[in-house]
Amino acid sequence: MTNDLYAVVGNPISHSKSPRIHSLFAQQTGEALEYTAIQAPLNDFVGTVRHFFERGGKGLNVTVPFKEQAWTLAEHRTHRAELAGAANTLYLDQEGQLVADNTDGVGIVRDLRDNHAVALKGKRILVLGAGGAVRGVLGPLLDERPAGLVIANRTVAKAEALVRLFGREHVDPELSACGFDQAVGPFDLIINGTSASLKGDLPPVSADVIGADTVVYDMMYSLQTTTFNQWALDQDARRVFDGLGMLVEQAAESFHVWRGVRPGTLPVIEKLRTE
Ligand code: ATR
Repeated sequence: MTNDLYAVVGNPISHSKSPRIHSLFAQQTGEALEYTAIQAPLNDFVGTVRHFFERGGKGLNVTVPFKEQAWTLAEHRTHRAELAGAANTLYLDQEGQLVADNTDGVGIVRDLRDNHAVALKGKRILVLGAGGAVRGVLGPLLDERPAGLVIANRTVAKAEALVRLFGREHVDPELSACGFDQAVGPFDLIINGTSASLKGDLPPVSADVIGADTVVYDMMYSLQTTTFNQWALDQDARRVFDGLGMLVEQAAESFHVWRGVRPGTLPVIEKLRTE
């Protein structure tokens, strides 16, 4: 019998850790599956997805720059994908219709709450950025019922649009938008969801957003401390984390969606750190 086939689709894709993560999950759980990486042409994501499922593929993860297209393409969306406006997980339902899910938000919440023991309930959170990555995680963050969540962005109108969108469903945590220089701290938790560090840039927030108890989470990860986390350490933040745990947690949630089995994540995170 051949193994069930899964893959991650992106462009570029060669750097992706997803095949490694899912093969460690498969080993650990004894699930019989194969997981590969597919580079879709920038102008033919849809054809790539159709071809994959026509060949009998069971599920796809989707990464940059196709998450919004995956969301548009699907015939059904889970509620969390609907709110996220983007999908990182695709599969066919029993009628053969394409379903889009988004596991990124669950990924960051589990990494913070379960792996790092950072509770979000009642906390003051500052989220930097208002692009697709931030929209993808806001729902699950707000579900944890922080006391307040401020979205600060270079383009304030985009942060305001997210406040309108998520304010409809989440009346409880106080939700607001501002520019980087208007964020007034200190915050309990700061999440960097901008892509500034890709260029080695820092979102220009005041050092006052960081206090002696502030925890900082950069959704990016890299072998070295990220630019943002280094800045936070220089301001004496209490603890800083990068997004490797989130990456493994979103993968575990996708694995669970597809297979109904939840892999252990801590040994996988530890292994990836040393590779
Ligand atoms: P992603 O999918 O990574 O979220 P995106 O939707 O293009 O990508 O969003 C990128 C985010 O990083 C945005 O919030 C962007 O700010 P704008 O909305 O003002 O464009 C932010 N960003 C990108 N480069 C930045 C920089 N050099 N300084 C600060 N913010 C930056």
